[in-house]
Amino acid sequence: MTAGPTAMRALARVNLAAIERNVARMGRELAGGVALCAVVKADGYGHGAQRAARAALAGGATWLAVAAADEAAALRAAGIDAPLLVMGALTPGELTVALDARADVVAWEEDFVDAVAAHGGGSVHVKLDSGMGRLGTRDADQATRVAEAAAGAANVRLAGAMTHFATADERGDAFFGEQLERFAAWAEPLRNKHPQTALHAANSAATLRDGAAHFDMVRLGVSIYGLDPFGEDPLARELQPALELSSYVAALKAVAPGESAGYGRRFVAERETHTATLPIGYGDGVRRGLTNNADVLIGGLRLPLVGTVSMDNVTVDAGAAPAAACGDEAVLIGAQGDERITAEEVARRLETINYEVTCGLLARVPRVYHRDGEPA
Ligand SMILES: Cc1ncc(COP(=O)(O)O)c(C=O)c1O
Repeated sequence: MTAGPTAMRALARVNLAAIERNVARMGRELAGGVALCAVVKADGYGHGAQRAARAALAGGATWLAVAAADEAAALRAAGIDAPLLVMGALTPGELTVALDARADVVAWEEDFVDAVAAHGGGSVHVKLDSGMGRLGTRDADQATRVAEAAAGAANVRLAGAMTHFATADERGDAFFGEQLERFAAWAEPLRNKHPQTALHAANSAATLRDGAAHFDMVRLGVSIYGLDPFGEDPLARELQPALELSSYVAALKAVAPGESAGYGRRFVAERETHTATLPIGYGDGVRRGLTNNADVLIGGLRLPLVGTVSMDNVTVDAGAAPAAACGDEAVLIGAQGDERITAEEVARRLETINYEVTCGLLARVPRVYHRDGEPA
């Protein structure tokens, strides 16, 4: 039998209603008046930035954040008008793109504030490096000077003061508290002096971990997509995975003992079985590290991926699924019947994090949007 008309070689189905609900669920963690900024960088963690942004706004987010100027410009070009922060470092050219997109930008040096002013002005969030060791200044006095420069420039607005936690997802780790103290000690006096300055520090893990980290706004990425910030089961935290990744059974073949599947013969059958070939591979973002190291759902059964993940195909030992047929849907991330494969499971097998699993889905995989099964 060949595949039916609805079979898709590789498909990422994204439930926008789940994103909305995840945002609303995270919003319930927040005291009144604390804003929720939805982080939609990296194409919405692989879910599609524009659709994710709209769903997040519908769910109660009032801010959006991206990493790169071009990401901000793309959201504006799509007609998204919400307050928008570009969190990443910006070259002079990128600063122009960000400011032209009416995005707020992040500063930690005074000459950057000068550049914003020279461009005609804009809104600036000053970043203290309280311990992440990436962007921002470690020097609280310098951060204050940058903030005063922004507050003092005629066409620049001091809109925010921020930091980012290194260990929020490592519960019990004391460094989180140290960062929190360092940030509060710097930022709260600054806000007393400049009350319009919004303080923000918390990512998803910090938001769930400690209300003291919420300040005036939280910046939520992973959780709004229904991914667990601690790498555990998202459902246990009432987060609903928004993305499912599927393919279909394109070929079924009987395999005798000693016969193999895939490059390098990394799977050699020890008994009679049959394999199902799914036309999806690392060219779609199904990583080669999943070779002999993943399960796939077919007909509601959890079956082992066997053999090498190649660019365009993977093989599954379908011996335990005698009813499997060509054209059957195969789920690599998502649910079928009572079985579920989470991005967290895939991440564990790859010794990485769920973020990388969804961000790693490549452009070749079409994203199809729905709201609880209804086309959206
Ligand atoms: C500066 C900053 N804030 C917030 C976030 C959102 O973090 P999370 O996805 O863990 O909620 C990120 C993402 O990496 C980030 O880089």
